[in-house]
Amino acid sequence: MTHKLTSSLCASLRGDITPPGDKSISHRSIMFGGIAEGTTTVRGLLEGEDVLSTVAALRAMGAKIHKDDAGVWHVTGVGAAGLQAPSEILDMGNSGTSARLLMGLVAGKNFTTRFTGDASLCKRPMERVIDPLSQMGARFESTDGKLPLSVTGSVTVKPITYTLPVASAQVKSAVLLAGLSAEGVTTVIESVPTRDHSENMLRGFGADVRVTKNDAGADVILIMGNPKLVARDITVPADPSSAAFPIVAALLCPGSHVILRNVGLNPRRAGLIETLIEMGGDITFENRRSEGGEPVADLVVKGSRLRGIDVAPERAPSMIDEYPILSVAAACANGVMRMRGLGELRVKESDRLALMAQGLTQCGATVEIESDDLIVHGTGAAPRGGAVITTALDHRIAMSFLVLGMRSAEPVSIDDGRCIATSFPVFVAMMNKLGAKIS
Ligand code: S3P
Repeated sequence: MTHKLTSSLCASLRGDITPPGDKSISHRSIMFGGIAEGTTTVRGLLEGEDVLSTVAALRAMGAKIHKDDAGVWHVTGVGAAGLQAPSEILDMGNSGTSARLLMGLVAGKNFTTRFTGDASLCKRPMERVIDPLSQMGARFESTDGKLPLSVTGSVTVKPITYTLPVASAQVKSAVLLAGLSAEGVTTVIESVPTRDHSENMLRGFGADVRVTKNDAGADVILIMGNPKLVARDITVPADPSSAAFPIVAALLCPGSHVILRNVGLNPRRAGLIETLIEMGGDITFENRRSEGGEPVADLVVKGSRLRGIDVAPERAPSMIDEYPILSVAAACANGVMRMRGLGELRVKESDRLALMAQGLTQCGATVEIESDDLIVHGTGAAPRGGAVITTALDHRIAMSFLVLGMRSAEPVSIDDGRCIATSFPVFVAMMNKLGAKIS
């Protein structure tokens, strides 16, 4: 059976959609609910494969998790000391967030946990969490710093001060989660701000998390060990990283008018929208409000003529998952687009720098990689398309090229669309409802 998907030229997009729940917040809702006391309710949970890997892992360690008939998830936590050793190896599938955050969570537990994942996840670097968690006392066994690996937690977790060597919310979160089991204050210093959902949500569950600045202007995040975490009710906003695909599609298709409801606009996640507006995108915000401590709004997106711009490296963490779709926007825009400082894209679900350059070139665009920068030479018209793209188990590569196919003269296919279910299971149906032709 083929899992190939093909996207063909379509007319303008119209409609009113709510993209699926935020992946980062969904993972954390299950994890933090799973170790709190009492029953956390989660509305709007992303039911993608990545989050379901986290659900399975927390269940394997003793949390009781179920979804009711109204679609609300209930997570009954085990309390601070209640996590149990999982009897089976934890298979994290494609999900780096599950793997890295859960390693932090079990680093202070008196048992051994084994982790594995799919072919993509087993290639991704884990030293970035192994290093700080080892300093805190956890013991790792792995062949080359990658999955499969096992971690044996320490009963006396050492509270460390850790300066992030890479801008990574996953590494920051792993250290903070290990810090929950430490005696004393664990400190993480980040010079470039990354998504702060762990800090905000842990505080919401009752942890003492403080953020200050040091003399160099870096964020200093402190977490006190051994807090009592208490269940709470969570409403998950729509994921800006998933909304990115219909947003760019609507901008690229002339005459489009699409409303996206309830989109999360945490400033540390909103870099793409800022960038698209700078490129000339007609995106307006309605009904700005706060939901569950996160800023959200309804977005109105209209077909626009985009121009290439220079995107500074400092913006990368606030749109790190959005470069694949941004480079599609750049390929259809007018002028040169230079996206700087994208080294981290090489260690995502695939080497996104290489795969985007390769796929866009196959579709007829002119693209260069210079050091860690991606340069796309837009002509003001979509590249011709007519290619089958290798997605290498990467959902965002898959969705990006299906959006390109909506504008290119010849259809664009992806070799295997199954990976889309990791973050956006209803992608094809939602895009087709707006007017796309994906089959
Ligand atoms: C995530 C952080 C980012 C992002 C990933 C989700 C998170 O990874 O790419 O999709 O939920 O913390 P890094 O922190 O490794 O950049």
